[in-house]
Amino acid sequence: MKKIRIAIDGPAGAGKSTIAKLAAEKLQYTYVDTGAMYRALTYKSLQQKKNLADEQALLELLMSSCIELEPSPAGQQVYLDGQNVSEAIRMPEVTANVSEVAAHAAVRKEMVDRQMKLAESGGVLMDGRDIGTHVIPDAELKLFMSASADERARRRFEDNKSRGIHIPVEELKQDILRRDKLDSEREASPLIQAEDAIFLDTTTLTIEDVVEEIVNLVKAKEQSG
Ligand code: DC
Repeated sequence: MKKIRIAIDGPAGAGKSTIAKLAAEKLQYTYVDTGAMYRALTYKSLQQKKNLADEQALLELLMSSCIELEPSPAGQQVYLDGQNVSEAIRMPEVTANVSEVAAHAAVRKEMVDRQMKLAESGGVLMDGRDIGTHVIPDAELKLFMSASADERARRRFEDNKSRGIHIPVEELKQDILRRDKLDSEREASPLIQAEDAIFLDTTTLTIEDVVEEIVNLVKAKEQSG
């Protein structure tokens, strides 16, 4: 059976990473969370007090940065220049600034090149915002996942709580709406559903339901491929 390439896109908090990680485990595929790469660059830019509006400075920083994504039983680990930054890149300061970093066309081009290489071998389930449209435009299976803004804010709240971070749910919703706007209105590969992607609204579905649906879709594609 041929292992395929799966592209999962959608806005923040749609459940992509939780669901993609579980589906990848069941399918024995490699899960690649591309948002972590933009977060790693944002983290480094903030540490070095770069001007986040300076596209050239951020591109130079990226070119001299080694960002590695390593699957592990505890979830994908993110290494920045050899240092494990998996936790650090989830901090609210990074979350609040990552859309601005990800909006730069030159930064995106380099990230997309790196991500294309990660997807080359097949057997990957990659999640992000432009995977089906730019990174793996010929993916055998494309999914676009979304949920209502209220539900996405509620999920972010619970996720933060489990990390000991307390931010009011209304504030999270406003941040989600702001990021949606930045991600979908930017000029360089905005967040849009690929024409051939299957739309999954996860607002009222359980994680298990969505994982099962994806596993079934992948198995059907593997058999027909
Ligand atoms: O999925 P996430 O919240 O970790 O993504 C962080 C940010 O990176 C988000 O604002 C959108 C951006 N991103 C992107 O522009 N393209 C991707 N392929 C993945 C993430």
